[in-house]
Amino acid sequence: MIRDLTLRLAGRADAPAIARLSRDRIEQGLGWSWTAPRVLRSILDPQTNVVVAREAAQMLGFGIMKYRDDDAHLLLLAVRSSSCRRGVGTALLAWLERSALVAGIGQVVLEARSSNDAARAFYRRLGYRELQTLPGYYQGREAGVRLAKDLWLGQSALP
Ligand SMILES: CC(C)(COP(=O)(O)OP(=O)(O)OC[C@H]1O[C@@H](n2cnc3c(N)ncnc32)[C@H](O)[C@@H]1OP(=O)(O)O)[C@@H](O)C(=O)NCCC(=O)NCCS
Repeated sequence: MIRDLTLRLAGRADAPAIARLSRDRIEQGLGWSWTAPRVLRSILDPQTNVVVAREAAQMLGFGIMKYRDDDAHLLLLAVRSSSCRRGVGTALLAWLERSALVAGIGQVVLEARSSNDAARAFYRRLGYRELQTLPGYYQGREAGVRLAKDLWLGQSALP
């Protein structure tokens, strides 16, 4: 675990670092689609939360979740390789899931590259179920796997 981990909404100035982390940790081998202007659009979108995890001045990871009427879509989540397996990914996802619950949303869906065994293990560990394979989902080059989690499962019906 990281002692001085802080989580907060991203600001405009975070867009380039988030885009670089997406290029290096998520989109490697694919075209770079989450460039800084696209990340900035998410930061400014009222239906989307972009959260960053920091330790002192360094950004360790980020997550982007779009909130829709009936569910939330986790668009991107990444942690610097030097900070992996220290609970940063879990903390980022918990923050985004809590925001969905507060907004009255009971389900999160996401896609991962089918070759990404680490991510699939991570999501399964955090209660996500693999629903279907999506052939050619990533730019026609690689299959995706869709996963989902029912956030209301196990929640008490009473406050
Ligand atoms: C997937 C990712 C976000 C996980 O972040 P993280 O900060 O390392 O995750 P955590 O430390 O919170 O891990 C929680 C649990 O998930 C599982 N897990 C995480 N990484 C794993 C791996 N490489 N292999 C197997 N299980 C893993 C473990 O059960 C882990 O608990 P443990 O360390 O006590 O065994 C990170 O590996 C990453 O950024 N990967 C590249 C980008 C990516 O694949 N994003 C997701 C698709 S958009």
